[in-house]
Amino acid sequence: MLSLEAVEVGYGQIKALKGITLRVSDGQIVALLGANGAGKTTALRAISGLLRTSAGSISVDAVRLDRLAPEEIVRRGVVQVPEGRRVFAGLSVLENLRMGAYCRDGSIADDLERVYRYFPVLGQRRRQAGGSLSGGEQQMLAIGRALMARPKVLLLDEPSLGLAPKLVAEILKIIRTINADGVTVLLVEQNAYQALSIAHYSYVLRVGRVVLEGTAEELKDRNDVVRSYLGRQAAG
Ligand SMILES: Nc1ncnc2c1ncn2[C@@H]1O[C@H](COP(=O)(O)OP(=O)(O)OP(=O)(O)O)[C@@H](O)[C@H]1O
Ligand SMILES: [Mg+2]
Repeated sequence: MLSLEAVEVGYGQIKALKGITLRVSDGQIVALLGANGAGKTTALRAISGLLRTSAGSISVDAVRLDRLAPEEIVRRGVVQVPEGRRVFAGLSVLENLRMGAYCRDGSIADDLERVYRYFPVLGQRRRQAGGSLSGGEQQMLAIGRALMARPKVLLLDEPSLGLAPKLVAEILKIIRTINADGVTVLLVEQNAYQALSIAHYSYVLRVGRVVLEGTAEELKDRNDVVRSYLGRQAAG
């Protein structure tokens, strides 16, 4: 289980997270929802060790993560797919995928095969430059690269951003398959309706605090409340 206890993170004087507590049980998909600036990316970057916490604790299976270096956190199986994809534009698809395995030893052949099974288009385009892929393909590559590290917990930051509805549905379906294959998922989304459709449990952030949490069913029953925290587009 990944757990955050009363986590605070600041940028200088500004507190972006004001003490958030959340849990992601093994095998679950948990959605972290919230409007622009709510603190979603900050939370993921704190879990990944890219930002330091100023209070609280982050742990996975009782091991404290919040004082470890980012690569140590990856070695412990917690791997982030960053906001905005960030594929290496000048490297080929295959080289991008290899980069994902940099924190571990051993053969990558099985892992590549697995990534190409989830995303056949990446197999077809493995010699092509990352920067020449479409937006949706780049998102697939970013997820594939994270899978190369053999995550126990996958942290996804707005995988649906900027994609056509059909592609969004496809990406969510693959996320569900990856989860069914044993990877725990923390899914950051502004697109609450889509995220709730696959999440076992959700938290809603508003300016650095958790203001609502529950199962998709519970939150759907409170659609009006969810909508008021997320803005008009959010609850579908
Ligand atoms: N590098 C930074 N320096 C100063 N303030 C920052 C920095 N990054 C984020 N913030 C502030 O922290 C708050 C939370 O930002 P964060 O990026 O975590 O939001 P978010 O929920 O991911 O939003 P979005 O949906 O737009 O991606 C915002 O008020 C933002 O302006
Ligand atoms: Mg963000």
